[in-house]
This record gives sequence, C-alpha cells and structure tokens, in this order.
Amino acid sequence: MVANGDFTERLGATAKAVEARLVAALEPTEALMTGSPERLVAAMRHGLLNGGKRLRPFLVTETARLCGAPADAALDVAAALECVHSYSLVHDDLPAMDDDDLRRGQPTVHIAFDEATAILAGDALLTLAFGLVAQSHSADPTARLHLIHALSREAGAAGMVGGQALDLDAEDTETLSQDEISRMQSMKTGALIAFACEAGPLLAGAPIEQRERLRRFGEVVGLAFQLADDLLDETADAAQLGKAAGKDRARGKKTLPALHGHDWTRQRLAELVAEASALLQPEGEKAAVLIEAARFIAERTK
Ligand code: IPE
Ligand code: IPE
Ligand code: MG
Ligand code: MG
Ligand code: MG
Repeated sequence: MVANGDFTERLGATAKAVEARLVAALEPTEALMTGSPERLVAAMRHGLLNGGKRLRPFLVTETARLCGAPADAALDVAAALECVHSYSLVHDDLPAMDDDDLRRGQPTVHIAFDEATAILAGDALLTLAFGLVAQSHSADPTARLHLIHALSREAGAAGMVGGQALDLDAEDTETLSQDEISRMQSMKTGALIAFACEAGPLLAGAPIEQRERLRRFGEVVGLAFQLADDLLDETADAAQLGKAAGKDRARGKKTLPALHGHDWTRQRLAELVAEASALLQPEGEKAAVLIEAARFIAERTK
C-alpha cells in the first residue's frame, strides 16, 4: 500500500510536469501552432491551463511507469489526452449542451470569450492532441500509430462523443435503465479513462494480457469516476467543485444517484474500487499507486 501522502505528491508532480508540457505545446513557435490567431490561442489556454485535477494524465504516466515505457513519451501522450479531455469540457459547457457558466473555478470559455470561439478552441485542442502524439519522438513509431488509432476511437462516436450524444438524448427520455445509464457513462467518461490506462502498455509494447488487464482497470475506474461526479452534483456545492452543482436532476440528466439514491451509489463505488484493485493484483506492489488512484477517484470531494 502506498501512503496517501505519496499519492498526493505524485499526482501534484505529474500535474506540474503535464502543465509545463501543455504550456510549451501552445507556444506560437511550435510547428503545430505557428500562425494561429492570438485570441483563439488565448481561449485554448483558458480551457486547458486552468487548474484541472489532471487525473487522466496521471493514469497515463503511472501505467507507463508500471509497464516500463519511456517517461518522456508518456508525458506527451498525457498532455495530448488532457487536450482532448479539456476540449470535451469546453464543448460540454456550451449553451447547446449543459449550458454552464463556471468550470475549474473560472468562467467557462464561451462566457470568457464567445460561443463560436469556444467551439473553435475545442476543435483546435482536439486536433492538436493528435499532432502531439504523432510528433512524440521518444515513442516508438508503431506505438504512436496504435495510440492515434485508439485515441480516435475512444474520443469519437464510439467513445466520448457517442456518450455525450446519449447523455443529451436521455434528457428528453422518461427513464433509462441501470444498464443504459452505465453504457452511457462508460462511453462519455469511461472511454478516455480506459485510453489513459491502455496508453502505458501501448507505449511499452506490453504483452496483450497486461494491456487488457490495465484497460479493464480503466473501464472500472471510469465508471467510478462518473458515478462520483454524479453523486457530487447532488452532495457538493459550486464553491467546492469549481463548477455548477445541483443541476443534473433539473436538466433531466439520467444518473444512478437519481435512480438508486446516495447509499446505493456509495456502496457501488466501494464495489468498483474493490474490483479495480482485484484486477491489479497480478501486478504486485508496483501497482499500489494505481489502486490508490482508484480509491481517490471514488472518494474525491471535488
Ligand atoms: C469532469 O472531469 C468531467 C467528467 C468526465 C465527469 P474532471 O473531474 O476530471 O475535471 P477536471 O479536469 O479535474 O476539471
Ligand atoms: C461530462 O459529464 C463528460 C464529458 C465527456 C465532458 P458531465 O456533464 O457530468 O461533466 P461536468 O459535471 O459538467 O464536469
Ligand atoms: Mg454533460
Ligand atoms: Mg456538464
Ligand atoms: Mg457532472
């Protein structure tokens, strides 16, 4: 077992390293950025460099460490994934979607800039992500191709975007079953988290069995992530979360806390942490920090 202090310290160190990589990636001198309009880049920076928890990058760097992948390549993929995640938040907050004004303790991008700029900043963050993986020189070229392919699938219609479509459709539906809600969660949130956990073994060229085990861990943690998010919407406030709270029910969002209540949700979160932890038993002591991450994700307060 890793002491909780170690976990917090490592999460903080990863967040710092990833932020430095993201700042560098948005420099106007970078090949992927030369000539880009200043206001658009300012909106990208607003959506990206404003204090997220950086949990997905942490899962990339820690699964990479576990599998023995190059740390520098892991940081590139971690930064790319954070671009995709941040774009998903910029678009999720748009008036046409969840219509939120507050994100990461600041005005959302469409409030700080305007709606068209928020759409375009999201588009630019998504496309930047693929460039960052493609140009990651420390990664083996075949691994880069596998990562680009996997990220395309998990971010797209079969993954995050598909899940967001189901989430929005469900607002106008009377009820959704537990299985339907879980499928939506596993797509809109689980897909990018599963990618994060598969990225390490992909970068390391790890055996298929280990890759599948870590991916499955990511899927379970992804479910826990959205379940905790849906619970926090009902139990926390905006000051604590840095984003709106108490809105999901009123908007007709279909969540498991709304279907089954808070006690059931806490019980289910504990089961998911146990399942995630059991999946990593074959990895031994080296996986302790990932197990700590699963616990943190389920028990987080923001
Ligand atoms: C929020 O993600 C959106 C969901 C998928 C639930 P995070 O809780 O990771 O948000 P940040 O990146 O820390 O702001
Ligand atoms: C968002 O889920 C999932 C994404 C793919 C962005 P939510 O809509 O519940 O996320 P928050 O609560 O706005 O962060
Ligand atoms: Mg949403
Ligand atoms: Mg939202
Ligand atoms: Mg939410």
